[in-house]
Amino acid sequence: MLFTKKHLSGGIRNILLLLIFTSVSNSHALADDGYRLWLKYDLISNAAARKAYSQSFDFIALSGNSDILSNAARELQTGLAAMLGKQIPIVKKPADRQKGIILSVSAGAVPDDGYSIQMHGGNTVITAAKDAGVLYGSFALLRHLQQHLPLEKVAGQSSPKIRLRMLNHWDNPEGPIERGYAGSSLWKWYELPETVDPRYSDYARANASIGINGTVVNNVNASARFLTAEYLPKVAALAGVFRKYGIKTYLSIHFAAPKTLGGLKTSDPLDPEVRKWWAEKTKEIYRLIPDFGGFLVKANSEGEPGPQDYGRTHADGANMLAEALAPFSGVVIWRAFVYKADPNADRFKAAYEEFAPLDGKFAQNVIVQVKNGPIDFQPREPFSPLFGNMPRTPLGMEFQLTQEYTGFATHWVYEAPLFQECLDADTYVNGKGATVARVVDGSLHNYPLTCIAGVANTGSDRNWTGHPMAQANWYAFGRLAWDHTLSPETIAQEWARLTLTTEARSVDVISDIMLRSREIYVDYNTPLGLSRPWTGSHYAPEPWQNRSSRPDWTAIYYHRADSLGLGFDRTATGSQALQQYRPEASRAWLDPDTCPLPYLLWFHHVPWSKKLSSGRNLWDELCHRFYTGADSVRWMQKQWAGISASIDPAIHADVSGRLAKQYKEALWWRDAWVLYLQTFSRKPIPAIYPKPDRTLQEVKESVNSYLMR
Ligand code: GCU
Repeated sequence: MLFTKKHLSGGIRNILLLLIFTSVSNSHALADDGYRLWLKYDLISNAAARKAYSQSFDFIALSGNSDILSNAARELQTGLAAMLGKQIPIVKKPADRQKGIILSVSAGAVPDDGYSIQMHGGNTVITAAKDAGVLYGSFALLRHLQQHLPLEKVAGQSSPKIRLRMLNHWDNPEGPIERGYAGSSLWKWYELPETVDPRYSDYARANASIGINGTVVNNVNASARFLTAEYLPKVAALAGVFRKYGIKTYLSIHFAAPKTLGGLKTSDPLDPEVRKWWAEKTKEIYRLIPDFGGFLVKANSEGEPGPQDYGRTHADGANMLAEALAPFSGVVIWRAFVYKADPNADRFKAAYEEFAPLDGKFAQNVIVQVKNGPIDFQPREPFSPLFGNMPRTPLGMEFQLTQEYTGFATHWVYEAPLFQECLDADTYVNGKGATVARVVDGSLHNYPLTCIAGVANTGSDRNWTGHPMAQANWYAFGRLAWDHTLSPETIAQEWARLTLTTEARSVDVISDIMLRSREIYVDYNTPLGLSRPWTGSHYAPEPWQNRSSRPDWTAIYYHRADSLGLGFDRTATGSQALQQYRPEASRAWLDPDTCPLPYLLWFHHVPWSKKLSSGRNLWDELCHRFYTGADSVRWMQKQWAGISASIDPAIHADVSGRLAKQYKEALWWRDAWVLYLQTFSRKPIPAIYPKPDRTLQEVKESVNSYLMR
């Protein structure tokens, strides 16, 4: 039987509500499947804290009227009900003689999408200039309460430093995700637009809770299908959900669509018919999605079509699309990930060589999106030399959340230190302090448009990201996109408290593992500035790989091991790539004696016996890194095992399993590298380390059998 309000007296209704909320919030006691991410809203077990909060919240006052504002109020209502066990009404006006939350939109109150939270006469007042700001402020309040912090400490003001904070999904129309390790696409294209999975709202909630305000729903290797009359209504259905959380929808486009879809003879961006085709297509999109964000474009890269197919430049291509989008205030996000098949070239230099000369040639609504490093999302790269070198073009940052090169869904790698390392790097444009972050947030060159993108790590897995700890990378990306001055440690602690446990010692243990995890991975995977020891798999060790259709698709191209030494000479005697940086930025890198060890082999071919700043010679230092890196995974296992009492058993067991696999594979990496490099160095493994219990041939066979899968 369904109870209606009139069947229930107030008292019984309250008891039932309490039971419902308690069972929802306690569901983790059975098994936590990770679905709720950092928005758990568990019942606050400390009765005193719960009581103190409860006394401050008797109503949620909302005077405005919009989907975004309603979602803000509803999120507060749901979150508070679950955390406090108390149903709080949403009212139009603050009630007399009661305390509550007041949501208010007031023009000019706070810049951009920002919010302020103030305590006034016992009320908690969230004010913003935009509806989305109120939503972000509401999530900030919930985040504060989830961590059981004193209410008055929530007071403050916050505005995002970057305007477009986006996820890029590399999702294909049939469901698979390029470089996705958490199941298939979240978007069920075959069901859309008629069936709209409620999960889309949960996805949008999660993004809004960390300030993400844009999403590109399809792969940069784009199918023209997304622009068809069949697919656009599907995209519009998703946009309809995301809009209610302040998120704009964008599409990756196939540059040759005028030909493949429109039946034109060419896709030349200077051809009037082609320009007309894009203008019409853009109008069609805006008819369906009035707040459509714009296009993301991968052109003339890895076989994708582009303007160079017609002798035109990247600027010609981008500006054509910009013209079509301008009437609707849409933007073009044009990727700088390009490198040509040239056996004598250094791939490191390619993006700079193609894009730097185009500075100032792009239309006002174009952003050039640059990967953090010059090659391709390696576990460690120096910052891309394009940052700082295109002062008249808004440059967006592209980070990769999905762990294409950092162990898929089995290796625990917290990426915030990697993001921060790049954002904090100094380009020395106009002197010291010209960090990459200041390029990206627009403050260095006064860019009108600013953008930061994360290649999403989400998929249809119940816990969204495959590895439960990879949720932290999505979370950290959003928090840094909002405020790049937050430290990886602050974010790790916050995320652990929201997601795993509020027990203080365990939070410290988790954040300690997180903060060290990337360096541990680098040590057993690509220490001292090694890169790309893979070809196809991007997972299993293949440093010996020497055959491919082009040299920069082999592993030996990158590490250049020979009988003399190891590493890629990018100084004046080598490829001269270091000249793409300002002299102050590259000064330390130029000389192998001053080059910081993490970047050594990125820039120098170093003799095996060369003594390094660590006191060891190159060969011994490499062995040291491979061995201590792999051993450190054991340390991660021990630390994790020690906090089992305060972690949900299902999540604890899941992570333990993945760590066991990570340890096995760290040994695999160690043995593969050490045995392979030893064929060049001809030096013994230092006696303090146990010799690998397999031969190089055996490691190769195990890799081959992995690759056959
Ligand atoms: C990497 C990745 C590709 C992807 C490309 C890109 O090369 O392996 O799958 O398409 O980056 O960023 O465009």
